[in-house]
Amino acid sequence: MCGIVGYVGSNKNSVHVLIDGLKKLEYRGYDSAGIAYLENNKLNIIKSVGELKKLESKVNFGVSSNIGLGHTRWATHGIADEVNSHPHKVGKFTIVHNGIVENYNELRSKLKSEGYGFKSETDTEVVAALLDSIYKTNNDVLKSIRKMTDILDGSYALGIMCEDDNDTLYVAKNKSPLIIGVGEGDNYIASDVPAILDKTKKYIALEDGCYAKITSSEINLYKDGIKKDFNVEEFKYDASDISKKGYEHFMLKEMHEQPEVFRRTTNPYLESGIDSLIAKMPDFTKYGKIRIVACGSATHAGLVGKQMIEKFANAEVQVDTASEFRYCKQFLKEDELVIVVSQSGETADTLEALNIAKKNGNDTLGIINEKGSTIAREAKMVLYTEAGKEIAVATTKAYSAQVALLSLIALNLSYKKDLVDKKEIKEILEDANKLPGYIESLLNKEEDYKKIAEDIKDYNDIFFIGRGIDYALAMEGSLKLKEISYTHSEAYAAGELKHGTISLIDEGTPVVAIVTDDNIAPKTISNIKEVKSRGANVIYITNKKDENEDGFYDKKIVVPKVNYLLQPLLTVIPLQMVAYELAKLKGCSIDKPKNLAKSVTVE
Ligand code: AGP
Repeated sequence: MCGIVGYVGSNKNSVHVLIDGLKKLEYRGYDSAGIAYLENNKLNIIKSVGELKKLESKVNFGVSSNIGLGHTRWATHGIADEVNSHPHKVGKFTIVHNGIVENYNELRSKLKSEGYGFKSETDTEVVAALLDSIYKTNNDVLKSIRKMTDILDGSYALGIMCEDDNDTLYVAKNKSPLIIGVGEGDNYIASDVPAILDKTKKYIALEDGCYAKITSSEINLYKDGIKKDFNVEEFKYDASDISKKGYEHFMLKEMHEQPEVFRRTTNPYLESGIDSLIAKMPDFTKYGKIRIVACGSATHAGLVGKQMIEKFANAEVQVDTASEFRYCKQFLKEDELVIVVSQSGETADTLEALNIAKKNGNDTLGIINEKGSTIAREAKMVLYTEAGKEIAVATTKAYSAQVALLSLIALNLSYKKDLVDKKEIKEILEDANKLPGYIESLLNKEEDYKKIAEDIKDYNDIFFIGRGIDYALAMEGSLKLKEISYTHSEAYAAGELKHGTISLIDEGTPVVAIVTDDNIAPKTISNIKEVKSRGANVIYITNKKDENEDGFYDKKIVVPKVNYLLQPLLTVIPLQMVAYELAKLKGCSIDKPKNLAKSVTVE
């Protein structure tokens, strides 16, 4: 979503830092951008709609400036135009903002009655006016910010400059991510690590309700009017983690990182076999039921996890989409564990689901990739996916790592319940060793994926079908295809097709059919035959090498057969790769698909 970067210091030219930082935040998704900087105490604001290079072309990089704010905007209040884009200046205050202020309409009316006029439709301009109006009464920026935070409802990460204090940046944070980067002779603010990673490795993570005064040499942090101590932490990544390392796209690089991500995520739990798995995971046996709540691909990982935990550990699992969960009756019982799954650890709906579970008194567990993220800090227990920084909007390696951890939870629980025998544990551990090699071999079948992409490129509707765990994978395959290739697709439970949707199958309609679970394979295969006999072009993804084949498919991708708990980590590879090749063939913006944001920090 929106991105913030800010700089104050004497070592660098702020304009360079701001544009450079905004480029690093492009992956988050945006539709307009802007910067504000001071040169000889004169404020300059430059904005543009669309790609960042348009903003770059308007900027004079030869200026001398020690302080400034930059922003990429993903439109929420009002269309993507220059008037609505940030920074916004009202009176003495210039502001950039991520998040959504919920009471902005009533504040706007009140401020109008005080004589403020508004050019944009944004909540941010209202925040700037509110701050200016409070400041007129006390002439003290910090006190004004404090009062403003008492009045604002909703989420915000704010970068603030005040005309009366030209050497200082101010920030305020509530429910939207914001960090302060600590340099030497200069300091930074950013909504996300990559914006400043090549400038400094030291940072301060702000808690909700905090605000701060930042000069080139000093950082003072406050909450509720009281000065607070803070820890300076160090980023684990370095700048090379956010480069493409020779790959054409971040998505391709990240798919190729999956063998290593699997090792990194699972090794700590499997290094001494089942003993380390039991020692290093919470005791899941004490819960009557597991609830998994997440958004998008993380929900799909949860659905795979549900199949694995229910089948393997005979424990009930319910999966909810966080945006629905937060507004429905949750019927949470005391002995239920709520697992929230999130790559970013900042997804607004998932965070709210976590808060609901905590308020209800439930134990919570986060399966999180971004260390130090809000959900990682707020959940009672955390298991980290070790996917490293994921830049492509379409998740691949983080999704796989989520599935890997859920499979370990299933194994942990089934072992503790004495439902898995030694022979099968041995088989799982052996398969886990072989898995990275298998993933690599599947990634290398590039030519097959290209041919499939070529085959389906002229179709506007594509179906993904499967049963059980394969249906959960079909959902992820369909989402990947939609988000990066802009091709409409639907995931369907194979047995459900003939209850309506099969009427859409025509001569040549592409149907990606997934069959990996022996127990239900014959059923799914008869569903595939139903679509084939109505003209479908069937792309068959299976771990079955040589079943009696009688022409029910057009193309076949065979994935190695491994234990049920690990199989999805292989089956998903062709789904990701076909989506990638199709998007490439159609010339789509693969790493930054239109309208999408990497981290969805508003509901
Ligand atoms: C998937 O490719 C998406 N970009 C999206 O569905 C994503 O998984 C979802 O927004 C959840 O994000 P999170 O894991 O950061 O919470």
